[in-house]
Amino acid sequence: MVRLQRLTGAHDAPVLVKLERSNPGGSIKDRPAWHIVRQAEEDGRLGPGGTIIESSSGNFGISLAMIGAARGYRVIIIVDPKTTATNLAMLRTFGAEVIVVDEQDDTGSYHKTRIALANKLHREIEGSFRPDQCFNPLNARAHYRGTAVELVDQAGPELAAVVLTVSTGGQLGGVSRYLREHAPQVHVVGVDAIGSTIFGGTSGPYLIPGVGLGWTPINLDDLARLDSVYKVADEDAFLGCRVLARHEGILVGGSTGAALCVALRLARHYGPDHCVALVAADSGERYLQTIYDDGWLTSHGLSVTTSTVELHRRVDRLRPYSNHPVDTANYRPELAAELGSPNGRCATAAGRPRW
Ligand SMILES: Cc1ncc(COP(=O)(O)O)c(C=O)c1O
Repeated sequence: MVRLQRLTGAHDAPVLVKLERSNPGGSIKDRPAWHIVRQAEEDGRLGPGGTIIESSSGNFGISLAMIGAARGYRVIIIVDPKTTATNLAMLRTFGAEVIVVDEQDDTGSYHKTRIALANKLHREIEGSFRPDQCFNPLNARAHYRGTAVELVDQAGPELAAVVLTVSTGGQLGGVSRYLREHAPQVHVVGVDAIGSTIFGGTSGPYLIPGVGLGWTPINLDDLARLDSVYKVADEDAFLGCRVLARHEGILVGGSTGAALCVALRLARHYGPDHCVALVAADSGERYLQTIYDDGWLTSHGLSVTTSTVELHRRVDRLRPYSNHPVDTANYRPELAAELGSPNGRCATAAGRPRW
């Protein structure tokens, strides 16, 4: 956990950044990957000669590829055209087989196409195991048992708010459950991409890596545990992480830039006697050829500025998308079965694990 030195003022709450890039696979996804694989080994669903099959745009796949290499499993990862060359190289370096889908689903993303193919391969390949990060509640449990406990412990009693980005809902689902049970005074704030419909709204294209989905994931099983949700634009997220690199010396991914914008907004609200924590999901080294590359930004029509004044101007303009996320829930309970997910039963309360 690192405290920002230069982006907050004397009247702001200190902002603490939990650097998940320090995990061995370089991102927060090591936590659910290891938790889910270990549980499968214990249950006998994954064993010698086994194959791990997963849909992932990068980080979860890299964690599984690393764990698979260490434990002797074949690993097949289904990615899409948004997956960066760096992530593809990392997957292959750990020995994973990579399949790139190119068919967009009805929400304009590749999530459903990737998941359906992963489930099809799982049915065809004997001895295979599907971690199934989007529909497996053990994803959230890994954060409930690990990330959340560390966060509260490391941030200390001044902790007023926690800011987390969301895609599969593992982080936000697990951490929000833990906070409601153990530190109910702490505000839980979710950060999504403009264009994602995890919390309803209009779907559209977005570039922030690792964030967003076309429905409310079951790992976020109770939206009443969230106090507010923000939706952040690509340009603001990328400005945020570029400013972090340039003015704080912290190199992290684009989702952290989005979380930073929201954390700075909240820091003004809470003042110096409290602190605001955000989770930085991965490392910026994965994005040197994209969001840290001026040519890439320009080719997407995005600003290349790293001005702190500009960042603060945009932070000033940020408003919550919702203070009652329950009202805009976008659950699709039929989806797990429709896509052939082995965790279809988890979409119902009866199918969920012990916490
Ligand atoms: C870089 C990054 N940030 C944020 C997230 C969102 O985390 P979760 O899937 O736990 O909601 C992910 C997930 O893939 C990610 O890779």
